Amino acid sequence: MRTLALLALAALALPAQSVRQAPGRNLWILDTGSSSYVIGVNSAGALVPVHWGGRATNFEDFALIPLSNGISSFESPEDMTPDEFPAFGGLRFVEPCLKATLPNGVRDAALKFDSAHIDGNRLEAILRDIKGGLRVTLVYEVFPGSGVLRRQAIVENTSAANVVIENLQSGVMEVPPSVDYRLTYSAGRWAGEWQLQQEILAQGKKILESREGTTSHRMNPWFALDAGAATETSGEVWYGALGWSGNWKVTAERVHDGRTRVTAGYNDFDFSWPLKPGEKLASPWLYLGYSRHGFGEMSRTMHMFERENLLQGGAAKLRPVLYNSWEATTFDVTEDGQKTLADKAAKLGVELYVIDDGWFGARNTDHAGLGDWVVNPKKFPNGLKPLIDHVHGLNMKFGFWVEPEMVNPDSDLYRAHPDWAMHFPGRPRTEARNQLVLNMARDDVRDHIFGVLDGLLTDNAIDFVKWDMNRPFGEPGWENVPEAEQREIWVKFVRNMYNIMDRLRARHPGVEFEGCSGGGGRIDLELMRRVEEFWTSDNTEAFDRLKIQEGYSYIYATKSMMAWVTDVPNMNGRTTPLRYRYLVAMQGSLGIGGNLNKWPDADMTYSSKMVEIYKWIRKTVQEGALYRLASPRGTNGLSSTSYVAQDGNQACLFAFRDHQQYLRMLPALRFQGLKGDSRYRVRVVEGAFDQKTGTVLSGDYLMQHGVTPELTGDYDGGLLVLERVP
Ligand code: GLA
Repeated sequence: MRTLALLALAALALPAQSVRQAPGRNLWILDTGSSSYVIGVNSAGALVPVHWGGRATNFEDFALIPLSNGISSFESPEDMTPDEFPAFGGLRFVEPCLKATLPNGVRDAALKFDSAHIDGNRLEAILRDIKGGLRVTLVYEVFPGSGVLRRQAIVENTSAANVVIENLQSGVMEVPPSVDYRLTYSAGRWAGEWQLQQEILAQGKKILESREGTTSHRMNPWFALDAGAATETSGEVWYGALGWSGNWKVTAERVHDGRTRVTAGYNDFDFSWPLKPGEKLASPWLYLGYSRHGFGEMSRTMHMFERENLLQGGAAKLRPVLYNSWEATTFDVTEDGQKTLADKAAKLGVELYVIDDGWFGARNTDHAGLGDWVVNPKKFPNGLKPLIDHVHGLNMKFGFWVEPEMVNPDSDLYRAHPDWAMHFPGRPRTEARNQLVLNMARDDVRDHIFGVLDGLLTDNAIDFVKWDMNRPFGEPGWENVPEAEQREIWVKFVRNMYNIMDRLRARHPGVEFEGCSGGGGRIDLELMRRVEEFWTSDNTEAFDRLKIQEGYSYIYATKSMMAWVTDVPNMNGRTTPLRYRYLVAMQGSLGIGGNLNKWPDADMTYSSKMVEIYKWIRKTVQEGALYRLASPRGTNGLSSTSYVAQDGNQACLFAFRDHQQYLRMLPALRFQGLKGDSRYRVRVVEGAFDQKTGTVLSGDYLMQHGVTPELTGDYDGGLLVLERVP
């Protein structure tokens, strides 16, 4: 008996296969550990979604897949029945996942399920056009136990003639019908990225997109749906994020029959991709997850998933404390000036020193030099080596800034290769920040850029690259290829950017990368696979940052979020205390970007202390579980985050107050994610709380009753750390 019971227990502990097919049936269950995605083939031969939500893994429960019928001749079963990958064709009017022009001008695709096979955690389902012209492989990959799966579509021309793909989406996410869903996403602009938006979806479509060639500051390719009342801690949330750093589109659609579906993939705007017989085109990956406990669980699931599966070094290394000289010097960089700043940064405990724009070519302003990646001999008469040696001698890593995809017309590169810049023949070339975009879809341009960067990393002991991109595409012409292929520029540019990074990473495995595009203009899950961190926003003003960081944290891992302490009055004219600025930046991967030459001794001393504190809590912040306790979008001027270490031994709570108000008391902040019966010793590190350093409190008290910050002046902040008592 006892042995049997033990065996049963052991069987339970074994991870079940994450992708399984129902015996003898065309039905598959994808099990992420906390959610299930079930698909099957219906009586019309279409691959359709059956269940997406909480975990349900018993095949017998999923019986017949019903075919919906319309109520008149104006509706059709194929339009009314959810479909895993609807193509434009037949009587179908929802947003399609595929639109193609086949031989003889046929623009109708009728995809039927063909076959499927499972390979470990991967399911491939093949759909074929009834006339054999197209084959679509839907790829599903489960990351077992992570709560996340991803899907992708690969379309192949199986006809004997050329076809043109006009729209390719990664897939569609159908949610249970007849609910008034609320869409959550982030939008904004340069220096104001990541502003959370929420709206109830009415009948019709809400489009989130980028047409800028990059991921965009204006919108970011993630979305979440809930029934309208989900909070940080409660309610179901279905969410997704697209991994693509070029033009993308997310269409949230409330259909006339009450269904809600989200389609995501390449933006079909100005999209056209010819496929010769046998050629294929793959969509970006669409990552999907489901939370039963609100937006907080959504974020924690994504953060852990990203650290363990996507982010470079995400599970292996803590991010170093960084100093960047941009705001201190702008283009006025010199060997001596940089050495002086490096000396000061080292005294603060900085671990990675980064020289920003201005070290190369004739780069004295933003009017010249981009494209000429040679060290400026006036600023660095002996090359970068003396500075790099100096920085290494101070026990810091050395990083530098590049913007390889760009060219100033006033540069040697442009004078030699004016045709390398994107343009339409004989038409204007519109500059932004006095620069043009190189047509990196061209393989010769790609190889030139790779060669230049590879040379720099080979010749100099560089540990870190900040890779910037400071304008969107314009006039995206590509005159050297046949007209039918010219619109491939949108996708090929991005692929070549990935290709350069992949090759650089392979040849220089010790070098780390930061993704930047004038701040947060190019942040997504595909670029995350190639960088250690992102530059969140050019707006480093601490009060604005609270909302920026909150929006970022909905989907992207804390560890990847670079956050600097900079000088005041800041770019928006606001002045906040140094303590507030530190505490805001310490909620991410800490950097310092102020002009240390101007910092009084008191600020330097205070900074050394804060850097030391950050190092003490950084594993908890960077790799722990984030709980957003009070939103900066709230009405009482109080915001707060807390982080609980993976081993549960440390937790920290940040609290901020924007303005002193005599209107109401501040509420207690209740921890989450502690152990109720554990005891924790309080340490008030900054600011004041109703609890004092040394007090020991139970997890239950801290989670059910909470601690109350005592924040008084304008822009006041506090940090309280808990350490579990053994
Ligand atoms: C962009 C970046 C900044 C800085 C400048 C340099 O704006 O986001 O951090 O590197 O370029 O020109």
